[in-house]
Amino acid sequence: MSNKTITIEILRYNPETDEKPGYGSFEIPYIEAWSMLDALEYIKDELDSSLSYRWSCRMAVCGSCGMVINGRPKLGCETFLRDYYPNAIKVEPLANFPIERDLVVDAEDFINKLESVKPYIINAMEKPVEEGVNKQTPEQLGLYKQFSMCINCMLCYSACPQMGLNPLFTGPAVIALGHRYNLDSRDEGYDQRTEVIQGKNGVWSCTFVGYCSEVCPKNVDPAAAINQNKLQGSQDWALSFLMPRKGAK
Ligand code: SF4
Ligand code: FES
Repeated sequence: MSNKTITIEILRYNPETDEKPGYGSFEIPYIEAWSMLDALEYIKDELDSSLSYRWSCRMAVCGSCGMVINGRPKLGCETFLRDYYPNAIKVEPLANFPIERDLVVDAEDFINKLESVKPYIINAMEKPVEEGVNKQTPEQLGLYKQFSMCINCMLCYSACPQMGLNPLFTGPAVIALGHRYNLDSRDEGYDQRTEVIQGKNGVWSCTFVGYCSEVCPKNVDPAAAINQNKLQGSQDWALSFLMPRKGAK
């Protein structure tokens, strides 16, 4: 193992014993190939088995290892010690979420918001299976594909200054997900999602800082989804005067 070392400072919090969160410092071997997830694993295995953090896939797919690394929301499994060495690295739980323990945050509010936009195809005219699949052209798929790449890592929520000011804000990833289904040629659920997306805590709560899209590891560009919905909402509003009850898509 390497003789070089690197310092990892981690915001620790155990609600059973700590009044408030505080930093713990760990000196670990510096291995060029190690990700932050590898470093946390070393700390848990060799230095402090009580360290708590989430992970699963190790390949930027499951979205469970989100954390704030030197002030920036990132996935622990695709952030490497070599990008910081020889400097110390500070690791904190995602901002704008209650801390459950150490780097584990409470995602219940995010899950509830995900459910609120009905993230599934709503089709009033479901046809029998024997009539075959609902085909889409590559162009129809291309309209929403980018917004379907979200891995629910919540980095965009941690990055969003508006989430800190208004915890009721529906938020970037959820709006992007609702938009994904609204853009799907097989879907007819637009009106059902409008209440959330265009509502008091929907797209109009966004002040377009755009940091959500900057930190997104999957190039979902939730800021674009929000802006497209602001445009659509404005069009719906204008159309509602010209064609009452036909303003929506
Ligand atoms: S939009 Fe991007 S940053 Fe936000 S939850 Fe989805 S993958 Fe993560
Ligand atoms: S462990 Fe799955 S995204 Fe990092």
